[in-house]
Amino acid sequence: MIRIENRQELNNLKKEAIISGKKIGFVPTMGSLHKGHLSLIERSKAENDITICSVYVNPTQFNDSKDFNRYPRDVENDIKLLKTVGCDYVFTPSDSEMYPEKMSLNISFGHLETVMEGKFRPGHFNGVGVVVAKLFNLVKADRAYFGQKDLQQTVIIKKLIETLSFDIQLVICDTLREESGLAMSSRNALLADTDRVFAPMVFQSLTKAKELYLKGENIKTIIEKSTAELLAVNRFKLEYFEIVDLNTLNSIENNLNNTPIAICIACFLGEIRLIDNLVLS
Ligand code: PAF
Repeated sequence: MIRIENRQELNNLKKEAIISGKKIGFVPTMGSLHKGHLSLIERSKAENDITICSVYVNPTQFNDSKDFNRYPRDVENDIKLLKTVGCDYVFTPSDSEMYPEKMSLNISFGHLETVMEGKFRPGHFNGVGVVVAKLFNLVKADRAYFGQKDLQQTVIIKKLIETLSFDIQLVICDTLREESGLAMSSRNALLADTDRVFAPMVFQSLTKAKELYLKGENIKTIIEKSTAELLAVNRFKLEYFEIVDLNTLNSIENNLNNTPIAICIACFLGEIRLIDNLVLS
C-alpha cells in the first residue's frame, strides 16, 4: 500500500487511472479504523480497480473542541489494518493541504442539516459537506463508500453530489455490528469498561421500535416503550429518538406503512456520544 500526502501525487494517480481505464473507489474516514471501515474497503476493492482510503480528522465538523481533541487517532495502526485488506492507497493530508485558504466556506443543506444531528451539533454538516467536497475534488474517484450508521450524513452527501454535480457514484453500505448488536464505531474504543455492558441497549431500543412499528403501534407509544429501559439507566442521556421519513428526514407523526422510514437514536453513554439507526424500506 502506498501512502499519499499531497494533491500532486493524487493527480498523477488519476492521470494514470484514466490512461489505463481503471476505476477508482474512495473510502473517506477519520481513521481509528475498525471492521466497519474495513468492510467498506473490501466492498470498494470488489467493485473497483484501485481503492483509496483517506484518513483525516476534520476539525471543521467538530462543534466541541473537547470532542475533537479526544477523537482517537492512530495512523500507524490504521495503515497496518488497511494493509490487511489490501487497500491500494492511503491519503493522509495535513491541515494545510486540506485548508490552504484558511477561510470558512458555507454549503447550505437546508432543513437536512438542522434536524436530528444538526440540532445537537450545529455546523457539523457544513464541516462534513466542505471536507467531503474537497476530498472528492482531490481524489476524483468513480465511486465513494459511506456507512449507513451515519444515516443523516449519507443523505447530506447525496444532496452534496446532486447540488455540486459531482461525477461520482455514492455507495451506502450496511452498518457492521458487534455480536451484542452494538454498531461498530471509532468512539466505542472510548467507552468506559463499566459502560460497555449498557451499550447494546442502544440497538435493542431500535429493534423494539421496529417490532412495534411493524405491528402498527402509534409513533408516540413506540418511542415511549422503546426508550423506557434505556432511560432507566442513569448513565444514558438521550438526545433524540426519532422515526423519520427516509427521504426528507422529517419526523413522522403517524405510522406510514408504505413509506421508507428510519428509526434514529443519539445518546450519551457516560461521556461518549453514540448514534445508530435502523432503516425500514
Ligand atoms: O464519517 C466520517 O468519518 C467523516 O464524517 C467523513 C465522511 C470522513 C468526513 O470527515
